Amino acid sequence: MAKNRVFRLKVRPQGEAKASDFELREEPLELLSKDQILVKVKYLSLDPTNRIWMSDMPQYMPPVEVGDVMRGLGIGMVEESQSPNFKKGDLVSGLLGWQEYSKVEAASLSKLPQWDVPLDAHMGPLGMTGWTAYFGLLNIGQPKPGETVVVSAAAGAVGSIVGQIAKIQGCHVIGLAGSDEKCHWLKEELGFDGVINYKKEHLGKALDRLCPKGIDVYFENVGGEVLDMILPRMNLFGRIPLCGLISSYNAEDKVPGPYQFSQILMKRLKVQGFIVFDFAKDIPAATEQLGQWLKDGRIRYKSTIVKGLEKAPEAMNMLFKGENTGKLFIEL
Ligand SMILES: NC(=O)c1ccc[n+]([C@@H]2O[C@H](COP(=O)([O-])OP(=O)(O)OC[C@H]3O[C@@H](n4cnc5c(N)ncnc54)[C@H](OP(=O)(O)O)[C@@H]3O)[C@@H](O)[C@H]2O)c1
Repeated sequence: MAKNRVFRLKVRPQGEAKASDFELREEPLELLSKDQILVKVKYLSLDPTNRIWMSDMPQYMPPVEVGDVMRGLGIGMVEESQSPNFKKGDLVSGLLGWQEYSKVEAASLSKLPQWDVPLDAHMGPLGMTGWTAYFGLLNIGQPKPGETVVVSAAAGAVGSIVGQIAKIQGCHVIGLAGSDEKCHWLKEELGFDGVINYKKEHLGKALDRLCPKGIDVYFENVGGEVLDMILPRMNLFGRIPLCGLISSYNAEDKVPGPYQFSQILMKRLKVQGFIVFDFAKDIPAATEQLGQWLKDGRIRYKSTIVKGLEKAPEAMNMLFKGENTGKLFIEL
């Protein structure tokens, strides 16, 4: 019988996740039932939210239980199908898990659109992180031409697309990133108007310099001290799509702040949390638009690829250390 290699959650991580929090097991591949598909995983997405799923904090999906296969989004190729809707060789995406082969219900899979683009584009701009940038910025941020848009984790998978869409909307775009190399990429290749290496420069002073008219839209990816620097600099009736709070995902203690919470009232800000799948019905239209921008060269992207399933737990921590540029994923 064919074998699968599978990561199961062994214990809930304390602080940063460690390889020892997982068990990498060899398991037999079970036979398919009606409407099930066997997918050979090719790319496994590593996302900050993986760390949330490993915990038992109240969250937007059930947590991964100890003993379960670690949940993860991925792209793969259909190996075997018991559904009329899929055939061997189809490229698909879905919650495939941290494993070499995934046995899933056909209804949970999507076929990749037949775009003439490299496969990794479906992990970044044409995948979950691209949709997150698109819906969060356009539906919640509602940027208008001439407005100032600031995005944190700007050289990451979501942030790099947010900034480019904001440029397409005619905005003045400022990105925060944790290295000079990332800042250089954002400014020179992606066309951001200004960049701040928040690890090097005083964030408040740099924001005052680069956002002389204040901030109309702040696309929030990190939380913590960054948010406290942004809030007093927001303009009246500014919008904050609250996409993520990566600075606190490994926290064991209560997370303090935001200390500038009162500014939400003073400036009449709209702060709205969202999860990309709130916009599920609009994903095909968003993919179409993002694909067009990609083809037209109006959106560019980078991938950070780590080879080998066994690297998944350590590689996930690259997100928390700022060691990725663009979308981080495992190639199996
Ligand atoms: N709401 C949704 O549906 C949804 C969907 C996808 C992602 N997200 C959220 O969006 C955010 C970005 O996700 P992503 O997948 O695109 O990851 P990413 O931005 O590609 O990677 C994470 C980046 O965050 C920065 N970072 C890490 N720790 C930080 C800290 N303590 N303070 C400031 N910056 C820090 C690092 O860049 P630097 O080098 O710049 O520090 C790192 O490269 C995350 O918060 C994630 O949870 C939300």
